[in-house]
Amino acid sequence: MMLTVSIAALSFPDDKTTESSGPRETLRENHSLLSAASLLLIALGLASACSATATQLLRGPYLQLKTTTNVVIRWRTDLPTDSRVKFGTNVAALTQSVQVSGGRTNHELNVTGLQPQTAYFYSVGSSTETLASGPEFRFVTAPTSSSPIRIWAIGDSGTGDSGPASVRNSYTNYSATRYTDVWLMLGDNAYNAYTDADIQKAIFGMFPEMFRQTALWPVIGNDDTYDSPALFTLPASGEAGGVPSGNELYYSFNYGNIHFVALLSTGDLSTNGTMYRWLVRDLEANTNQWLIAYCHHPPYSRGSHNSDIDPTQITLRTNFIPLLETHGLDVFLSGHSHSYERSYFLYGHYGFSTDLQPSMILNNGGGHEDQGGPYFKRGSGPLANKGTVYVVAGNAGHPLSTGTLDHPAMYISLLELGSVVIDVNGDRLDLRELRSDGGISDYFTIIKEARAALQIARSGIQAIVSWPASLTNYLLRSTTNLSLLPPWQTVTNNGTNVQGQRTVRMNASDPQRFFRLESP
Ligand SMILES: [Fe+2]
Repeated sequence: MMLTVSIAALSFPDDKTTESSGPRETLRENHSLLSAASLLLIALGLASACSATATQLLRGPYLQLKTTTNVVIRWRTDLPTDSRVKFGTNVAALTQSVQVSGGRTNHELNVTGLQPQTAYFYSVGSSTETLASGPEFRFVTAPTSSSPIRIWAIGDSGTGDSGPASVRNSYTNYSATRYTDVWLMLGDNAYNAYTDADIQKAIFGMFPEMFRQTALWPVIGNDDTYDSPALFTLPASGEAGGVPSGNELYYSFNYGNIHFVALLSTGDLSTNGTMYRWLVRDLEANTNQWLIAYCHHPPYSRGSHNSDIDPTQITLRTNFIPLLETHGLDVFLSGHSHSYERSYFLYGHYGFSTDLQPSMILNNGGGHEDQGGPYFKRGSGPLANKGTVYVVAGNAGHPLSTGTLDHPAMYISLLELGSVVIDVNGDRLDLRELRSDGGISDYFTIIKEARAALQIARSGIQAIVSWPASLTNYLLRSTTNLSLLPPWQTVTNNGTNVQGQRTVRMNASDPQRFFRLESP
């Protein structure tokens, strides 16, 4: 406490600062007890602060929980100080700030009141010094609706050596100036992390540039022995949309028109467990256009882990995949097997690999727009909202380890280091597997058909009926009496395209008239 008073005495007048009510409740590491030895070290540091920066930045800054209006910024210092983030849209004028008093070495500030889809620059430090600032300390808040979104996903990256470094470098080169909106870690993020130094090497020291520019949304794997909730700030309370899970080890969040679901595959996977019951409520409440789920274990794999044998994979597939597919799951990402395996466009395959039926493969092509065509997710009809691609991407660092790599649900299985790059733009999703040498080994596209919602309006004696213009070859039929057999008369299979809507005008002076749109 005496130390804090000393620091305050060294402060200088600064920009208008908003005093926060305090650090988040999730500031879990206790720094209030200082030994006599550490006090001596701090006193020495303060002495040098009079002429130069005394405090060293040991970790971060790293971003968490980036939403349309908020971002959590965390960092670690060698000496306890108070915490301050300065921010603004002009790197040369960080005119806003948030500050928390009191000395600590692990800093965590929630920056609020941001504008959606806006680039901000920031600095971190204390009331007396700035520890990190400049043009590379920049993030972009989430959009409020559909917008081009770039996602980077890495699995089993936690070796802290040249493997993840090569994967990181290939993505940095590939992405260049394209901002990464969402960053996912698929588990086994830090192998043998028995010490804080192991975590530093495998996670924060491996990806410092990514951490300072975009938020990480990780799940843990079977080899992640560290205290993940202490390390990360994740939306257990629905801070980023979605139904609160009450647990930072599994959660959901919204980003633009995507709903993300992060599952804990090393946890309770039973259908009466808390995670399953939360997921039911979360998926029922979701209204976003795209649904991407991820966890560490793959529901389908014949890499270094066989999904016909591994009990965790079997339970995950049996219990969770039907629920997710019922709610229109588009892409499922996982790691665990140290390879890259990518499925066909699937629906309804919940058994062993020998149970796979041709009818469960909705499209047996590669989903290549330039060869055979993309996967097409229908908005109506018997296949409405069906079709999922399953991606095993445990190839972002761990030495590759083979299996038979011949799961019949897979379109392609590869033994190479790499990562997954996803771009979502409106009704289109593109996924690429980026090798550590910079090449693209696999790619596919999903086009999502708009839901065949009929709109009906009246203008005088005319009925104006319209539906999304992207729905070609649909048949508009009509009747005035639902009790007649057969009641429906064909009106048209076309319509005039008016502002993206196929539109039909017809005289309809009847007391009542019903319309339906039939899929091809
Ligand atoms: Fe694993």
